[in-house]
Amino acid sequence: QDGPEARLIAQYLPYFPFKGIPRFYDIGGFLSEPTVFARIIDIFASRYKHQNIDVIAGLDARGFILGPPLALALKKPFIMMRKKGKMPNSISSSGYDTEYGNRSGLTVQRDKIKSGDRVLIVDDLVATGGTLSSAIELVHLLGGTVVECACVVELKMFIDPTKESGLPSRSELFQK
Ligand code: PRP
Ligand code: MG
Repeated sequence: QDGPEARLIAQYLPYFPFKGIPRFYDIGGFLSEPTVFARIIDIFASRYKHQNIDVIAGLDARGFILGPPLALALKKPFIMMRKKGKMPNSISSSGYDTEYGNRSGLTVQRDKIKSGDRVLIVDDLVATGGTLSSAIELVHLLGGTVVECACVVELKMFIDPTKESGLPSRSELFQK
């Protein structure tokens, strides 16, 4: 949603990183507002404290900002899902499309998720859903269950992109 409160949480720059992207959303707005940042973590902590979460997985890079304070609030382990080539003994997901183009997939260290683990995935924002679906794939490859994907910002324009965009809809992605 738009308006002053939404602008406190997510701000946007027009036409960044290139002209095809009319609005680049950034969570920098609330990171410099400690009371808003704390409130966001409280909201997530209340939602997940009774959901038997075993592991909180943050997505490289901006999910690394939200995941650790939530993991501390819930007293659960935090794990990193990183872009490729950064961690030893890791397993990779297939590539995915985002509004910026193709990405080569995410990786997680194999010993960080055990079969049967209930995993909460955390990122700042969902646009096409390509990044989240890549993270979901990693959890499933290691035999875990995704409890939910927690994001602060949802770009609704990507729920069902037009076929001309060449991007799958979010429901198509999450059915995989
Ligand atoms: C941004 C954002 C989400 C993703 C959302 O990450 O932080 O992770 O795009 O887009 P999607 O739903 O279309 O996949 P980006 O890969 O741009 O980089 P960063 O987190 O490393 O800044
Ligand atoms: Mg990201």
